[in-house]
Amino acid sequence: MKILHASAEYFPYIKMGGLADMLASLTKEQARTEEVYVALPLIAKLGKEPNWTGKEYRALLPEDAKEGTMAVTLLAKARFREAEESGVKLYFFDSELFSGLNSIYGQPEEHYRFAIFSYACYALSQILKVDAFHAHDWHTALSLSLQKNSPRSIPSLFTIHNLAYQGDHPFWMTGFLKEDPFCLITSPFDQDGKCNYMKAGLLSAGQITTVSPGYREETLREPNGFGLSYVLNKRKADYTGILNGIDPDEWNPEVDKRIFQTYNLQNWKVGKRKNKEGLYREIGRPNIPIDLPLIGLIGRLTYQKGFPTFLQAFLERRHLPHRYVVLGSGDMETENTFFHLSDTMPDVFYFYKGYNESLAHQIEAASDFFLMPSLFEPCGLNQMYSHVYGTIPIVSRVGGLRDTVDESIDIQFKTGIVFEPNDKSSLGYALERAKDLFVSPERDHVVKNMMNLDWTWTKRKLEYDRVYKKAIELLE
Ligand code: ADP
Ligand code: GLC
Repeated sequence: MKILHASAEYFPYIKMGGLADMLASLTKEQARTEEVYVALPLIAKLGKEPNWTGKEYRALLPEDAKEGTMAVTLLAKARFREAEESGVKLYFFDSELFSGLNSIYGQPEEHYRFAIFSYACYALSQILKVDAFHAHDWHTALSLSLQKNSPRSIPSLFTIHNLAYQGDHPFWMTGFLKEDPFCLITSPFDQDGKCNYMKAGLLSAGQITTVSPGYREETLREPNGFGLSYVLNKRKADYTGILNGIDPDEWNPEVDKRIFQTYNLQNWKVGKRKNKEGLYREIGRPNIPIDLPLIGLIGRLTYQKGFPTFLQAFLERRHLPHRYVVLGSGDMETENTFFHLSDTMPDVFYFYKGYNESLAHQIEAASDFFLMPSLFEPCGLNQMYSHVYGTIPIVSRVGGLRDTVDESIDIQFKTGIVFEPNDKSSLGYALERAKDLFVSPERDHVVKNMMNLDWTWTKRKLEYDRVYKKAIELLE
């Protein structure tokens, strides 16, 4: 089967969060048995130079394109450049719309840009004559409405990675479309008076998936549907939750070249200790006592990730022996508070502002615990990375976190610490439990349970196969 994915992110070229990791690892697994293509924007600052094959496609105009529209004019000047990565063909959309960007999101014209990119992805699916089209999040959702209205419609899938971001904006901003190839005006894609790309994807896709069964359930009700739960309920029969997998070539303490000392289940204690020493040296805090529990936190500092609750709990439980290393950037107030703690409590708290892939691996390998106090979490990858690195996750009971971390009273099944509700006292109590677990003989069992978990795509890829099949049957 020939599958074309359309996405704004793909590791290691464009990564802002888990979407990049998820898609790179899923497509690598799919490429073992299928022909897999991925359409991506080409931005100025890529994480790595692609392995260009030299092939490119200029003929980007769909057969039914109407001359004279802005979209068509821009597409005529653009091209898809082919590259190869782990058996997957990548098609970078080389256009003036994206070429100057250092970062993929957050600019005011992003709705316009992603509309044109979606148009190009739809066109590419026709050029490559694929059997299935798979779009991810709102950035590429409009290509699904083109697929749906096309005389040559193909089976399609839409994966929701995060319903909090919907690409909604006032209708006048899409005035540039003139001919409105996406049927934005005539279709019910408005939501609270705004044009909503996510809704367009949900109404147009053959099948919808999201990245964990737990999050699927949560999005069928408000407030977790972010206003779109009524649409998801209408499409409930075509909506599946499939847990993300991870790439064992990238996240595996036995082969990880970014960490100070590789290790496995047999020697994790020594391995993690060496990594802790290495990390403390690296961040300029060599005097932090090595025997005290270290808690790692990594992530986008946004509302979703629940950092304010963490701060409250941290301040209330200052007496605990925990040390903290935090990596992330985002909300300025949170950043400033973290900087303040890092300056005033250097033996307890360290904050690195920014994006740093190597440091993320080093924190996973060095930490004893990994904290994810998310208010909602479609899947979350770091709790799974933590499992394979023998780092006990402390998570709120939401979405993919509750599907993957189990604080079972039966020690055979315990794979972390889970707290609910998400407030400072239950998080504080979870930090107390971490203190006890750190010195308890139970810790060895928990680490063994975690490091034996299989979070790879091997089985879960088959769940996507079933959904592709359903999408194909719909069109037969
Ligand atoms: P989300 O996609 O919501 O950000 P996930 O847990 O699915 O959350 O994935 C986040 C990914 O991005 C993980 O691989 C994490 O290590 C990485 N990441 C987040 N922030 C940073 C950062 N500042 N530096 C390095 N990696 C980061
Ligand atoms: C989103 C979600 C995260 C998920 C990732 C990959 O960014 O916030 O929970 O793991 O996508 O699917």
